[in-house]
Amino acid sequence: MQIDSGFTFVLFGGTGDLSMRKILPALYEAHRAGMLSEHGKIVAVARHAADRDGYIEWVNSNVKTYVSKGGLDENVWQRFLERIAYVKLDLGKPEDFALLRDALDGHAGTRVFYLATGPSLFVPICRALASVGLNENARIVLEKPLGYDLRSSNAINDAVGEIFAEDQIYRIDHYLGKEPVQNLLALRFGNALFEPLWRREWVESIQITIAEELGVEARGDFYDNTGALRDMVQNHLLQLLSIVAMEPPHSMDSDSVRDEKLRVLRALKPIDTRDISKIAVRGQYHSGVIKGTSVPAYATEHGVKPQSATETFVALKVEIENWRWAGVPFFLRTGKRLAERVAEIVVNFRPVPHSALGAPALRPGANRLVIRLQPNESIRLYCLAKQPGEGMNLSSVHLDLAFDQFFKEGQMEAYQRLLLDVINGRLALFVRRDEQEAAWRWVEPILNEWAASNKPPKPYAAGTWGPAAASAMLAQHGTCWLEEEN
Ligand code: BG6
Repeated sequence: MQIDSGFTFVLFGGTGDLSMRKILPALYEAHRAGMLSEHGKIVAVARHAADRDGYIEWVNSNVKTYVSKGGLDENVWQRFLERIAYVKLDLGKPEDFALLRDALDGHAGTRVFYLATGPSLFVPICRALASVGLNENARIVLEKPLGYDLRSSNAINDAVGEIFAEDQIYRIDHYLGKEPVQNLLALRFGNALFEPLWRREWVESIQITIAEELGVEARGDFYDNTGALRDMVQNHLLQLLSIVAMEPPHSMDSDSVRDEKLRVLRALKPIDTRDISKIAVRGQYHSGVIKGTSVPAYATEHGVKPQSATETFVALKVEIENWRWAGVPFFLRTGKRLAERVAEIVVNFRPVPHSALGAPALRPGANRLVIRLQPNESIRLYCLAKQPGEGMNLSSVHLDLAFDQFFKEGQMEAYQRLLLDVINGRLALFVRRDEQEAAWRWVEPILNEWAASNKPPKPYAAGTWGPAAASAMLAQHGTCWLEEEN
């Protein structure tokens, strides 16, 4: 899809990790695929490079390795670099923003300010942009984490909201840009097949897992002040949950979808802190072995306090208090240094009410839908079938939809989709302020309870599936985490 008007994409934090690994590669890929207007410009803003030549040198030596998907065509790359301008700017000096305004003068089309910086800079940058009139008719993109708790996120949203209207603000949750998450909407609302079953009468439980093999990498300091609940649950997992559980929206326009997600977030059963040990497990990884490689304990990672009580694993039992889902447990789980990198949604259907065919048909999980978000995106439906031969012996079989076998076009990276959406003014895949507030409001009692507790997180060896307590929590409901190689 070719957009006709030009744009100026101003990238704050132009030499940061995110720009290097995600944003510039995604822009390159969109450029390579012919999805960017030929009048589109990228204006990188940073402190480190002295001038444009210095910045381009940095891009050449740092970004190229992350540009892999479509391969790097040197001619295309050179034309991509021609789009890039550079403004050296000290964010601590609001007067430098006059330089930026002058540099943007004469650039027509949509104006996007992407803040790939720490959240402490969001408000100063917005104020400085407003002081030189650059907030008008512009879009602002805010990266997570947006705040540390409800109060700090409200403070940022209030201050940014004085400068930009809500429909100018694009809060990124990159999970919403992932192709399989989009596919979940297609699966649920494009097929008559699943919707009648997608409710308490037929669904016994739902699991959502985002497991990582990676540890905290170079972000020990940030992570130690954040933890898995803030880093993954408040945003990615609750967003996935809201898409799995939402009512069919009347259209795919941004507010219809976001209104329905919000209803789910507001219907989450409030945390009763007296039950916290029954509905929430937190863990921290110790040393261990992942795919044959020894990895150190979290507490010895660079930037992490040796006595840290920060959780690197969370498992939760969540309930949704509405007609569709009352009484159905949703089990959420995320962790670093787990046995495998996998993100998936598992819908366990109830067994048949009466089986004339014997016990297997009564087994929970006999019918199960597994939506694998990564890696190897696929949808797998488990059913029972008769084994060939004499007698009526049932076996578990599955119907598979592996996207890479069906569709020849490669999948679009989450950041590429989201950046194109910002440039094209599509808000549906960005988190609205009220959604974010509802999510913070729900997680906060857990955060507070854990902060007040003197019990440390439960240890687990790196390379395993987390503390045993996470499995025990599901066992109480007669179920277990689905952990199988795909
Ligand atoms: C980020 C978290 O939002 O998501 C990281 O801050 C995490 O800690 C990452 O590693 C996971 O994203 P993905 O797309 O690799 O699953």
